[in-house]
Amino acid sequence: MESLLHGKHITICVTGSIAAYKAASLASFLKKKKAEVHVILTKSASRFVSAVTFKSLTGNPVITKMFDASSFIPHISIAQLSDLVLVAPATANVIAKAANGIADDMVSATLLSSTAPKIIVPAMNTAMYENPITQQNLKKLADFGFEIIEPDCGEMACGSSGKGRFPEINQIYGKIIQVLSSKRTTALSGKKVLITAGGTIEDIDPVRFIGNRSSGRTAFAFAKAFIAMGAQVSIIAANVSERALDDFASTFTDSQIIKVRCAADMENAVNEHFKNCDLLFMCAAVADYKPNYSTHKIKKADDNLVLELSRTNDILCGINNFTNKIIVGFAAETDNVEEYARRKLEKKNLDFVIANKVCGEESAIGGEKSSLLLFSKGRSEPFVFPYAAKTENAFNVIEKISELLTERANGQFRRKADAAHIHE
Ligand code: CTP
Repeated sequence: MESLLHGKHITICVTGSIAAYKAASLASFLKKKKAEVHVILTKSASRFVSAVTFKSLTGNPVITKMFDASSFIPHISIAQLSDLVLVAPATANVIAKAANGIADDMVSATLLSSTAPKIIVPAMNTAMYENPITQQNLKKLADFGFEIIEPDCGEMACGSSGKGRFPEINQIYGKIIQVLSSKRTTALSGKKVLITAGGTIEDIDPVRFIGNRSSGRTAFAFAKAFIAMGAQVSIIAANVSERALDDFASTFTDSQIIKVRCAADMENAVNEHFKNCDLLFMCAAVADYKPNYSTHKIKKADDNLVLELSRTNDILCGINNFTNKIIVGFAAETDNVEEYARRKLEKKNLDFVIANKVCGEESAIGGEKSSLLLFSKGRSEPFVFPYAAKTENAFNVIEKISELLTERANGQFRRKADAAHIHE
């Protein structure tokens, strides 16, 4: 499928935040997606990253001055040319200027004169971001139709920790797609997605348990991708670190998080929330067996200890899907990945299975990267997503699922139309 960005003129206004260097990766990413990328660099941004970098990455001249003798496209101003204007990173200063109609440099003048959709990507020190003045300015811009991307939480360049970090590129890309395709909504826009995350824990006694190594990282990467594609996300999280939960909850305030511990808790939570969702995304590693719980701490003896484990319910197999909800399962395997994934797709009656390898050099467990296979109902060969950052692969997989759902919906529509035709 042709990239939605193909031939689109995207102007990135880079302002003087320490995150300015990240705009270089953004420019290169958008260029790879076949957009025509233009960059306007403020004076303070050019102290963090040079115009030469952006020129080399985009193949276009970089605008640094309001009155540049070498106007790069005669008679057409950048404001008119742009299909989209992004301010990334956006400092509190440029946000304040834009909110108050000040146009004293090329970035603020472009923001005032362009009628293209505009996306602001704030990145700054937490106190500056949370200052009511900045918040009010952002609200004012949102009321004027600017799209604002919430910054990420985490450690800041100044050493403190909080909200204000430049978000992941896929998050920005998701918003760009949303904005540019707002007239042709994606299959996921407005859909309610229920995602399970992490790994369940089965208690042996008050101090011991059986668990697994799932961190929830993959689920959060997918959750962000769904949000970027316009979906509304609820997460059932099993034993995910408090920090990861807080970071996610404070960035995506519209998302709901339900915390669970064991497989039975997760089953109850899924059954309760399934009826309200359009798509279930079973990313969690759910225990297949549980021990018989001892209310007293088991004391050691000289002999070996034998633990008897009983089966937990398979949540996916137990789901009564009478409706046309979409169900996505995962297959984490050490070997025969394709065969086992195909089996799960059929046995659990799933629409999609995402398979990954959990051993060897490209193991998906615990790390930041993974390679994925996407199996779709009725299609024998999987789509392959090579070893890359989990966030990047998550976004690419969700984009593909969205595309396949659109194809399916069109196919169904065509079949209905054909049937109606035969009737006549
Ligand atoms: N799953 C589930 N309920 C369980 C176990 C797994 O709903 N009790 C879901 C997982 O969330 C995942 C899919 O089933 O989406 C496959 O899980 P996986 O652990 O890979 O496989 P199992 O079906 O448990 O089979 P096996 O462990 O033998 O590979």
